[in-house]
Amino acid sequence: MSFENIRLEVEGGIAFVTVNRPDKMNALNHQTLTELGAAFDAIKADDSARAVVVTGEGEKAFVAGADIGELLAVAGQADKASELAAFGQSVFRKLEHLGKPSVAMVNGFALGGGCELALACTLRTASSKARMGLPEVSLGIIPGYGGSQRLARIAGPGVAREWVLTGDMFGAADCQRMGVINRVFEPEELREGTLKMVGSMLAKGPVAIRFGMEAILRGWDMPQSEGEAMETEYFGKASVTEDMKEGMSAFLEKRKPDFKGA
Ligand code: COA
Repeated sequence: MSFENIRLEVEGGIAFVTVNRPDKMNALNHQTLTELGAAFDAIKADDSARAVVVTGEGEKAFVAGADIGELLAVAGQADKASELAAFGQSVFRKLEHLGKPSVAMVNGFALGGGCELALACTLRTASSKARMGLPEVSLGIIPGYGGSQRLARIAGPGVAREWVLTGDMFGAADCQRMGVINRVFEPEELREGTLKMVGSMLAKGPVAIRFGMEAILRGWDMPQSEGEAMETEYFGKASVTEDMKEGMSAFLEKRKPDFKGA
């Protein structure tokens, strides 16, 4: 599969998706979003890819947002603008629902649509130099790729209100304090630290990882009592896997488990 604005490489069980428009701060134009959608479909179908790392090319930007030129082109056309938002949302939903853990490796500016791309990943790491924010209000719009919804669910409505309504940018340490970023690394250690976190997930029972992700994701849309009922179902389903027997036997036998993903 060949792409112009992104790169997709699978290495050691990890699919690396790199947004590659560094001269435009990796801004997401329509073509880039289309390519991301195709990459996420390919990753979903590829059994050799068990986790995903999403990042941006170059040292300055993860992704500095939706392409502002394209946004301006839909000014005054509510239907077209809503359509554009729905398209971006559909691409990010693919990422969120891959059934494989994804980590946004935030190497620089993650603004607007870039911040929303990071929020659609399962987890987020950042360089100590990264800056994140939802500056859409500075442009007279609001986030359109799920940001107002996901940020409120990940970091709480107080943080989401602050980000969406001020449009301010926040440094990596503040993002971590607010619960938006999971782990912060010095720039030269970002890749290694991120891969260590991914490796920690890949070493665990793959079915359990999938069930854990699904339980949290599906629970977002449920009252707690329903969510807990769903959790018991997943718990039951996990208990009939070979991986459960292997994980517990390995613990008791003081050895490393050899999970088969079944
Ligand atoms: N859409 C389209 N082009 C963008 C872009 C975006 N979201 N973000 C950056 N670019 C382009 C700039 O127009 C510039 O292009 P040019 O060289 O053809 O003029 C190039 O990327 C470099 O950006 P520049 O602003 O010169 O870099 P900087 O280091 O001074 O500032 C940012 C970096 C990220 C702070 C700044 O680019 C910025 O604020 N970007 C927009 C962020 C935003 O509002 N995103 C939300 C969109 S909904």
